[in-house]
Amino acid sequence: MTDCTQNAALPLRDQHPAPSALTEQLIAGLSEDPKRVSSLYLYDERGSRLFERICTLPEYYLTRTEIAILDAHGDDIAARIGPDALLVEFGSGASLKTRLLLDRLVRPCAYVPVDIARAALLEAARSITRDYPGLEVLPVCADFMRPFDLPEPRRPAQRSVVFFPGSTIGNFDEPDAIALLERMRQVAGTGGGLVIGTDLVKDVSLLKQAYDDAAGVTAEFNRNVLLRLNREFGAGFVPEAFRHEAVWSDAHSRIEMHLVSLRKQSVEIDGTRIAFLPGERLVTEHCHKYTLAGFAALAAVAGWRVDRAWTDPRGWFGVQYLEPASV
Ligand SMILES: C[S@@+](CC[C@H](N)C(=O)[O-])C[C@H]1O[C@@H](n2cnc3c(N)ncnc32)[C@H](O)[C@@H]1O
Repeated sequence: MTDCTQNAALPLRDQHPAPSALTEQLIAGLSEDPKRVSSLYLYDERGSRLFERICTLPEYYLTRTEIAILDAHGDDIAARIGPDALLVEFGSGASLKTRLLLDRLVRPCAYVPVDIARAALLEAARSITRDYPGLEVLPVCADFMRPFDLPEPRRPAQRSVVFFPGSTIGNFDEPDAIALLERMRQVAGTGGGLVIGTDLVKDVSLLKQAYDDAAGVTAEFNRNVLLRLNREFGAGFVPEAFRHEAVWSDAHSRIEMHLVSLRKQSVEIDGTRIAFLPGERLVTEHCHKYTLAGFAALAAVAGWRVDRAWTDPRGWFGVQYLEPASV
């Protein structure tokens, strides 16, 4: 259900699923082998703040590298997007990278940030509204893996372009990644485009450090999922009884974030008991790493054609502009 709330002059479309709607999915994930929770639980208010700290850590090359690419090639990207475009950002978080596009776009007609983390979304939307006077900002709080409505901008757009930075696409296993890219294709329509950031395959030790930093911020970010499950579902996890681990899976070309149970323990969610053996793992996030060719093949299944790809000099990260394959 859509709740259009006037939030300090921001027309927030709140389509956040109710916790009750998520319970069944949560219990199903916790009953799998290995046990899993959706990575969207990483991003509550505290989780979003911890993620912003992660982005500044020396080991987390992703944000710095993607920003450098957007900065170096922003004019080219903006030219491809063209004037009077509607920019729809999936998983917008703090909307920091967005600024690199907004600074270069000609008369963008509106900016629609979409994120599950309501507090971070509103803070970002307010800050963009303040810094880009005249730009219509229409935030949408939603799980982008479920159907949601998009607002209509006051001024009609020449085209709609989806922005999906941060290699967030890598958090989804292939069927979900394809479904999400297909949804973005619908949002963009026939004349639109997609600007997407993808982390690329590289030395495994660099990848493991990026997801297991020396200061322990990623460990805190990971364990925060348990605090959230306690608060929203009364689960009764003891976060200190779990250890953070970043595991590389060669077979799937991905880093997996795990929480490893340090002892025999159990929690209860909506009357269902979930038991953990010592050493048992809870998977909280997958982070797939692509080759440019591998990503192009994935995107092609969802009806996209890579128009242009930019990388950094070390070839660590890719920013790509995609168009519907039929264009
Ligand atoms: C890796 S962060 C990237 C943030 C920002 N785009 C960047 O590049 O720094 C992922 C963002 O996607 C949001 N997110 C993750 N899963 C989501 C979902 N299923 N629906 C909506 N937002 C989601 C998170 O709340 C978070 O803000």
